[in-house]
Amino acid sequence: MAKYRICLIEGDGIGHEVIPATRRVLDAAGVDAEYVTAQAGYEYYLDHGTSVPQATYDAVEHTDATLFGAATSPSGEKPPGFFGAIRHLRQKYSLYANVRPTKTRPVPGAYQGVDLVIVRENTQGLYVEQERRYGDTAIADTVITKDASANIGRYAAELALKRRKKLTVVHKANVLPVTQGLFLNTILDLARPITELQTGTMIVDNAAMQLVRNPGQFDVLVMTNMFGDILSDLAAGLVGGLGIAASGNIGDKFGIFESVHGSAPDIAGQGVANPTASMLAAVLMLGHIGAHGEARRIDEAVTQVLEHGPRTRDLGGTAGTKEFTDAVIAQLA
Ligand code: NAI
Ligand code: MG
Repeated sequence: MAKYRICLIEGDGIGHEVIPATRRVLDAAGVDAEYVTAQAGYEYYLDHGTSVPQATYDAVEHTDATLFGAATSPSGEKPPGFFGAIRHLRQKYSLYANVRPTKTRPVPGAYQGVDLVIVRENTQGLYVEQERRYGDTAIADTVITKDASANIGRYAAELALKRRKKLTVVHKANVLPVTQGLFLNTILDLARPITELQTGTMIVDNAAMQLVRNPGQFDVLVMTNMFGDILSDLAAGLVGGLGIAASGNIGDKFGIFESVHGSAPDIAGQGVANPTASMLAAVLMLGHIGAHGEARRIDEAVTQVLEHGPRTRDLGGTAGTKEFTDAVIAQLA
């Protein structure tokens, strides 16, 4: 029997390209795993009328971790019965921590000296998707609870303690003292007694500017859902873009790991997507399930190929998905 069971969900668009590429790399790195493939996303919805079938729940629940490609969410009016697959899975499995490491890698245009992690609350805030419209007025609820704020705060504090011991709580409590204030104060209450931790606060718009001006000052940043969504793409842009940004959705029981990018309909099906983000998501996943040696080998092989090429188009090269993947596999061998 294989040591690990891993669920693979390609999802939509370039998910069909980057997940198979990553699977090849997992095999080349000698990960002793049995793979269960499952389906989810907009394409599945169009064929079957639901975004996530029961078989996918079973696969997620009966494996050690899940690697997810990307899911399309059409903008504007939601079609009947459609829901965003990844947001749904985050909520269903209480994957409250969305963990997005950003580190300088040897690619053109990357800021030097960046090594930070954005920890984004993943289950509430504005992304509870409670919107309604009264004539020409539209209203969206934002939900913040003390429990969820404490969960994400604790996760971020523990992560910071394993790193450079610096935690920044990013917020907008000056304008939204009730919701953002509850988030901020809950985390400060639990972090302040931890004396080894250097805890600071920063208002979100200033945090955006500071991330661009001086990203090296940050270690772990914790924030509510939408701020984390936006600032983690900004952070990805500092070090080479969405093609190399990975994330984990982590709860007490399950973990779903994915690239930060979406389904990239503009390049889907062309064989040019950069699979690095997905491979680095697999690195996070392997670390989560305890396969630390394999995780490190894949991280090193990917970093070598990023440095010496061939690089994909988003990083200024000409390689397609396959050529890049072949080079990573050659590096592993
Ligand atoms: P996107 O991340 O799909 O693409 C943004 C830009 O980055 C595009 O120009 C794309 O070609 C490029 N890009 C993204 N990943 C790349 C890769 N691996 N290699 C090379 N270039 C890459 O974001 P966009 O276009 O805003 O959204 C497209 C769809 O994806 C939407 O339906 C959106 O809802 C969904 N989405 C899903 C996410 C998820 O599954 N977690 C996250 C973000 C968007
Ligand atoms: Mg996003």
